[in-house]
Parts: sequence; structure tokens; C-alpha cells
Amino acid sequence: MYPFKDGCYAPRNGWYVAAFNHEVKRELLSRWILNEPVVLYRTEAGEPVALDGRCPHRHFPLGKSCLIGDEIQCLYHGITFGPDGKCTRVPSQTHVPQTYKVKKYPVVEHGLWLFIWPGDPELADPALLPDLEPSGWSDPEFRFQPFYSLEVEGRYQLLNDNLLDLTHLAFLHGTSIGVAGNAEAPEERVELAHVLKSRRNMRNVPIMATQRGRFDYDGPVDRLAGMDFYLPGFHAGLDEMRIPEDHPTRGGERLTCHRVFHAVTPARLNSCNYFFGMGGIMSDEEFDATREHLWPVIEEDAMATREIEAMLSTLGYYPDELMLKSDTGAVQGRRRLQAMMDAEGQVAR
Ligand code: FES
Ligand SMILES: [Fe+2]
Repeated sequence: MYPFKDGCYAPRNGWYVAAFNHEVKRELLSRWILNEPVVLYRTEAGEPVALDGRCPHRHFPLGKSCLIGDEIQCLYHGITFGPDGKCTRVPSQTHVPQTYKVKKYPVVEHGLWLFIWPGDPELADPALLPDLEPSGWSDPEFRFQPFYSLEVEGRYQLLNDNLLDLTHLAFLHGTSIGVAGNAEAPEERVELAHVLKSRRNMRNVPIMATQRGRFDYDGPVDRLAGMDFYLPGFHAGLDEMRIPEDHPTRGGERLTCHRVFHAVTPARLNSCNYFFGMGGIMSDEEFDATREHLWPVIEEDAMATREIEAMLSTLGYYPDELMLKSDTGAVQGRRRLQAMMDAEGQVAR
């Protein structure tokens, strides 16, 4: 499906964010992941579990059933499944065949997130999880917080495309976080085995609208902004703002040091799960203020994603796209995701 080859939807062999760790509790959480219903919960010992969210009997959603101890009892006719996915009880018969079970997904808690592997469990290698060290995860000065978790009514690649082309900051977010330098500053890109990196160095640019008045300095700043896309769905961004070196007394002084994390996980065919979190050298007050002033930004990206999805589904066909130089990142991202799907043998239907 657009923008991939016909019959190709999303790579399955990769770690995707299923939830923020704190969302998974001692109650059942339903979530669509790669167009499969998934039910998430924690065992009494606190271990996260992800199972197929559809009862194999008459397809009742297990996420709307009951958690009893570590087992899910389907609300419809009471079949019970353990955290390994095996059926443990069928109230209407004494014998429970070994073949009665639901799929269990590999999951790993890593950073703020619970990652899920939708593909072949044999290939679920934790070494393929996004590297959080370049984001300062082990730096005692850095702190991290989950901000927003939402389902956006647009196919996931529209949101990945958005994150892979930050020239939209100056326009879609023109009244919030965008400044003209975002679109004009040349982008440096590096393509590695599991990650695509982008950096923009901006010199002497105006301070962002949302940051004005927050410091005892409102002059032009030097800004380093970048984004690392860990395939298939985790974008780790950095944004640092300093007083320009040529300032007579405060040259090079750091004003902000932020990390942003956007995780994009295919939900239904035409929607995606979007998880946004932040980190950096930030106080509680700064986290609270930032969470509040970034909600309109998240909503602007969600709006663009929804509008494009509505445009495409109403047209009923996929017109050619005008390709710009600034689309290099999005094109690379699409090409790499398509290559993962090709390697998995997803073929045009
Ligand atoms: S639908 Fe789940 S037990 Fe019947
Ligand atoms: Fe955006």
C-alpha cells in the first residue's frame, strides 16, 4: 500500500513501541499493532505480557475480557489463556488440547518504552533495539519523561515522512517551534545499518517563539538540531541552543539541551500509534511547561497526517508526488523500510 509496493504494509521483523512502560499495568490494555489486535498487561510479578487480542473461539476481544491472576478469561464463554498464550481452561469441556492457544509476542522494556516484535520470534534480538546512549540515557544530568500516547487516523508512513523531513517545522509549526532557519539550513545525512541520521547546524537564528522570554537572553542563537531514525519506527531527536561564540561575554553558553523521542507504530491499516517523550537537562517545571506548550505541535503533525490520509482515501488513487531535494531523508526511510519488507518476502498482490 502507498507509499510502498502493492501488498506491502510494514516490516514485521523489527522492534516497535507498543506502549510507554507506565501504560502497561495490572489491567488489560487493547492496542492495534500492525493491524493485529494486541492485549497488554503485567503479571503479578510485574512482567509485561503481549498476546493476540482476539479470542480464537468466536473472536471476542481479549482486551475487553477479565484479568484473573496472571491469566485472561474471555468474557464471552470463559476460555482462559496464560501469559505464555496457552489455553489453560475451557469451562464447557474437561480436555484442553495443546493446540488451543493465542500468539505471544516478544516484548522488552527499554528506556521509557515497551517494545514489541511482531514478526518471527526467533529473530527478536535485543541488540536491534534503538541505542539510547547518544540521547544521554546514562548521563546523570539527563532526565526523561513520557509525554503523549495517541492513535492518529493516518497510515504510519505519513508520520514517518513528517519526521524525516523537518523543513515542515518552519511552516506547519510556524507559530510554535518553527523558525525560518529550519528550512534553509543545509542538512547533513548519514546512513548506517539500522539508523538514518540527520543534522542541521544553524548559526545566528532567531530564538524559537515558544522559548522567547524564558531566558535572560533573547538575541540570536546557534542551534544544532537533528534526528536519528532507528528502523523501523523510532525517531530520537536532539536540539541544543547556545549563545553564539562571538557574543562578547557569554559566547558558547548553553541555553537548552533537549531530546525528543517520537515512536511510530503501525496501528490499523490507515492509522498509527504515536508515542512522544522528552529528555534533556530539564527541571520538573521545565518538563511541565514543555509538555503543555508542545501539545499544539503534536496536534499540528497529527492534523497533517489525518488530512493527507483523508485526501488519499477520498481520491481513491495515488497521484505522483513532486519530489524535492529535502525529501532525501523520507525517500531513504521509505527505501529502507521497503527493503526490510522485501527481505521478509512480502510480495505484491
Ligand atoms: S469468544 Fe472467547 S470464549 Fe468464546
Ligand atoms: Fe512536526
